[in-house]
Amino acid sequence: MANRTYFIKTFGCQMNEHDSERAAGVLRTMGYTPAPDPESAGLVLFNTCAIRENADNKLYGQLSGLKPLKLADPSKKIVVGGCLAQKDQQLMAKKAPYIDVVYGTHNMGRLPDLLAKADSQSFPVIEILEHTEMFPSALPAARDVAHHAWVSISIGCDNKCTFCIVPSLRGPEKSRRIGDIAEEVRMLAADGVMEITLLGQNVNSYGRDLVRAGDVPDAFAEGKRNRTLFAELLHVVGEIDGIKRIRFTSPHPKDFTIDVLEAMRDIPAVCEQLHMPLQSGSDRILRAMRRSYRSARFLNLVAQAREIVPDVAISTDIIVGFPGETEEDFEDTMRVTEQAAFDSAFTFKYSKRPGTVAADLEEQVDQAVMDERFPRLSALTKRLSEESHARQLGKIQEVLIEGPSKTDATMMSGRTRHNRLVHLPAGPGIVPGTFHDVRITRTADHYLIGDVPALVS
Ligand code: SAH
Ligand code: SF4
Ligand code: F3S
Repeated sequence: MANRTYFIKTFGCQMNEHDSERAAGVLRTMGYTPAPDPESAGLVLFNTCAIRENADNKLYGQLSGLKPLKLADPSKKIVVGGCLAQKDQQLMAKKAPYIDVVYGTHNMGRLPDLLAKADSQSFPVIEILEHTEMFPSALPAARDVAHHAWVSISIGCDNKCTFCIVPSLRGPEKSRRIGDIAEEVRMLAADGVMEITLLGQNVNSYGRDLVRAGDVPDAFAEGKRNRTLFAELLHVVGEIDGIKRIRFTSPHPKDFTIDVLEAMRDIPAVCEQLHMPLQSGSDRILRAMRRSYRSARFLNLVAQAREIVPDVAISTDIIVGFPGETEEDFEDTMRVTEQAAFDSAFTFKYSKRPGTVAADLEEQVDQAVMDERFPRLSALTKRLSEESHARQLGKIQEVLIEGPSKTDATMMSGRTRHNRLVHLPAGPGIVPGTFHDVRITRTADHYLIGDVPALVS
């Protein structure tokens, strides 16, 4: 009998995690069940990312690791989907001819057909579409964490940040209707989901295309409300019974509106957590990146967020070594980062992506210069996040339990409303999907340790 088990490895961002859960859902409807590793699985799916060059290299490295498995068992299906598949299509099949199916970012729902086709041909089945037929959220999902769900509110991106390859891989921005999103969230809540993360490349421009098409609730069409559609969406999902935590990613400083901060303050379920990508603290570089806010606006937004949303945790993305970045520009980034006092930050060395505007700029920054600047920024963001962690000591935080700690069987792990990982001793009632008030007793780089005072005393 055919081995109908699957193993999925996900690279890249939350969009891909969401897509992987949908791919798993599609496979389950075909009768597949999960396997613990690629060796034992009948189908191995890599959901790929192309955001930086090392993402490409990593994928090709791991893909070559599957070759001996395929040679040992030719009936094993190797499937590659997602952003790098969308970008490299033919090249991927050429580099790894033992792949059975290559699909892109717009056609995961076609997996059953593509797999069937692969059964009848000895070379890779490649199907890459330029446009989406349906939102991935319309597909069934097999969720990784039972009480958490990703919900896509828009796909694609209409911005033209000059370093970024995403718009060419995920297409123009297309928003889902509020009613459809609310319907999905209601179904998720009925299925035991308590926490949702709303996903879009630029959540603040959510719904602009719907407004253009006149496809919005009556109140908006008549201009009765003065909220943005994204703030309205937060209010709508915030009222759905059973949903205790709402997060969203990513907002864009250019389109960010105060009504979103007010929604974060006023809607109990919306978590006090904001991921706001800075990219650079130099106005000259922001202009060259086509990020049309400036550092003063960014810092102002951070100040407003801290004022309007008490105890908000702010994280960011920063790129070091964008073409033309001088020492002075870099120092601006250091200064703005320090002033913003980010609670955590993802820092990246600029990576040249063929086909983007920045890839053709002449003043590419030397690797040696990037290698010198990058650790200076990392040291700063590490210090800021240590300071932020230190401020949590002794505080009581609401933790939603996810499951046993991956490294210590006597501990359970969960997340705070700030989305910080917390480990706490296992105990009666501390089971996945339950909330506990946890006192933070120790901190480390990437997690906090705490206990439940009621159980300790
Ligand atoms: N849509 C999101 C970002 C998605 S990509 C937003 O605008 O906020 C996630 C992060 O990857 C970006 O914020 C950026 O910091 C980083 N990134 C994107 N392209 C990159 C490149 N070519 N080199 C280095 N980092 C990059
Ligand atoms: Fe890329 Fe900019 Fe769109 Fe984000 S907003 S996905 S960085 S083009
Ligand atoms: Fe995400 Fe990577 Fe694609 S960051 S959108 S998976 S290129």
